[in-house]
Amino acid sequence: MSEKLIIESHKNKIEQYELLLPQIVALTAGETDLIANLSNISAALHQTFGWFWVGFYLVKNDNLVLGPFQGTIACTRIPFGKGVCGAAWELKQSILVPEVDKFPGHIACSSLTVSEIVIPVFNVQSEVVATLDIDSDKFGVLDEIDVIHLERLAKHIGQVIMK
Ligand code: SME
Repeated sequence: MSEKLIIESHKNKIEQYELLLPQIVALTAGETDLIANLSNISAALHQTFGWFWVGFYLVKNDNLVLGPFQGTIACTRIPFGKGVCGAAWELKQSILVPEVDKFPGHIACSSLTVSEIVIPVFNVQSEVVATLDIDSDKFGVLDEIDVIHLERLAKHIGQVIMK
């Protein structure tokens, strides 16, 4: 397995995802350890897009518990239904928050985060097993293009990596 990530930052966002997702599939294909794979996925996303924070929360009983991430320290437990992550888990749908101040109950792990995307990760039984959380310190960076491609990634994580 190559540990070199190819990034072409001059390309548009769709092209960057098209370049990144096969690399993530290849990067994780030979490894069965979940923490190792989620760690490298966080790093690959962070290296490619330079977001303020990117990482996973893993469903453990009634909480989401902090998993592998890249960025500043973060809250370790989020109850079902709380914050953007808990809402995405409860609603079983992705949530794009262009302005976190306007999302009731948003959990501010960092005051620098201004917008956020949370994508639920489903297992083959369609249960939420994790959330993928992306935080930006800039307005207008995260949009529906990210949601579509991160959902593709989340599908691979839920059905292959976390199977
Ligand atoms: N803002 C999230 C909490 C996680 S941190 O942003 C890393 C939320 O409201 O669920």
